[in-house]
Amino acid sequence: MRRVVQFSTGNVGRHSLAALIGRPDLELVGVHAASADKIGRDAAELCGLSDPTGVLATDDLDALIALKPDCVVYTALGETRPMEAIEQMSRLLAAGINVVGTSMVWLVTPRHADGWLREPLEQACATGNSSLYVNGIDPGYSGDTAVHAALSLVTRASSVTVQEIFDYGNYDDYEYTGTAMGFGNSPQDELPMAFQPGVVASLFGGLVRSLAAHLDVELDEVRERCEPWYTDQRIECTMTTVEPGRMAAVRFAAEGMRGGEPVITVEHINRLTSAAAPQWEFPPEGHLGVHKVIVEGEPRVEVSTHLSHPVLDVTDAGCVSTAARAVNAIDWVCRAPAGLVALENIPPTEMIRGLMW
Ligand SMILES: NC(=O)c1ccc[n+]([C@@H]2O[C@H](COP(=O)([O-])OP(=O)(O)OC[C@H]3O[C@@H](n4cnc5c(N)ncnc54)[C@H](OP(=O)(O)O)[C@@H]3O)[C@@H](O)[C@H]2O)c1
Repeated sequence: MRRVVQFSTGNVGRHSLAALIGRPDLELVGVHAASADKIGRDAAELCGLSDPTGVLATDDLDALIALKPDCVVYTALGETRPMEAIEQMSRLLAAGINVVGTSMVWLVTPRHADGWLREPLEQACATGNSSLYVNGIDPGYSGDTAVHAALSLVTRASSVTVQEIFDYGNYDDYEYTGTAMGFGNSPQDELPMAFQPGVVASLFGGLVRSLAAHLDVELDEVRERCEPWYTDQRIECTMTTVEPGRMAAVRFAAEGMRGGEPVITVEHINRLTSAAAPQWEFPPEGHLGVHKVIVEGEPRVEVSTHLSHPVLDVTDAGCVSTAARAVNAIDWVCRAPAGLVALENIPPTEMIRGLMW
């Protein structure tokens, strides 16, 4: 039985918390909450379960470390406060506590992460003889597990494209996703955070370089592209209301180039409602989104992944899957040699243990 702490109970964290409470092979021993209104509340209440666990949320990291858990599931928003997140993760790792998580998405491909991020965490792992693993659905599954499965079916590949085509209209996250991506902005506004030069390459270039390394392909460069789409009609949706002349869709990509051609592409097409960017590709009929891998090769392979749920919407279903990518690795990561763990270090069947109970 692994003793586990859940760190944060946001969009992803409340699902990993519910998973930890449910699983018979994991024991929830602590919960971190940053928001004042969550501190002191029972873990079950924070993830919508009715039976109290007796585990109360705290913002005291030292108290959580003193519980000596085997692992912490770190799902606190990290990309907007990277130095603080590194510091929190490092304190856990240096204390000998393994960390799995979804935060700090650059760590999905740890060998390709920048030194400022990788080095302090590697140091903390060495100090505590502990391991750190970060994954999710995108980035994560769509650019690693799904691609590896598709490539296993070909004798030769000429290109790999990983796409997220998603309608974010129902996504209730204007504060972070909406503003970062610039939905509702006019062409005269300053470029939003996600599309400042270098940001797309920083967030998705690691996936491109990681796949190139696995394929033994030498790239000439990884370049980025970004194209906004401005609506001529008012669009109303959960994310926000977009007035005419403002941005309601965007497509962007990191492209691994060889001989002037993109051979490994990680692309997003994100729109607010189906009225936006009608000329761009849509998910298949009846779906709000798809995670797709296309391998051009011998033969051509297309893998489309659709999530759904009887109660949750498709965005929340994606958060459940993102949580699963971290929680399902706990046991292996607790047994791993010290250091940063990449997806390819984990034997695939190790990730499915404990799922049926
Ligand atoms: N790769 C993927 O597919 C994927 C998909 C989704 C998300 N993610 C990543 O997973 C992470 C979580 O995403 P999310 O949508 O769940 O985020 P979120 O709901 O916006 O935020 C998660 C939690 O972050 C905590 N937090 C905020 N400021 C904090 C601080 N100063 N100190 C400690 N905790 C703080 C809050 O905790 P409290 O609730 O305790 O106040 C909040 O609930 C993000 O880093 C995101 O990039 C990855």
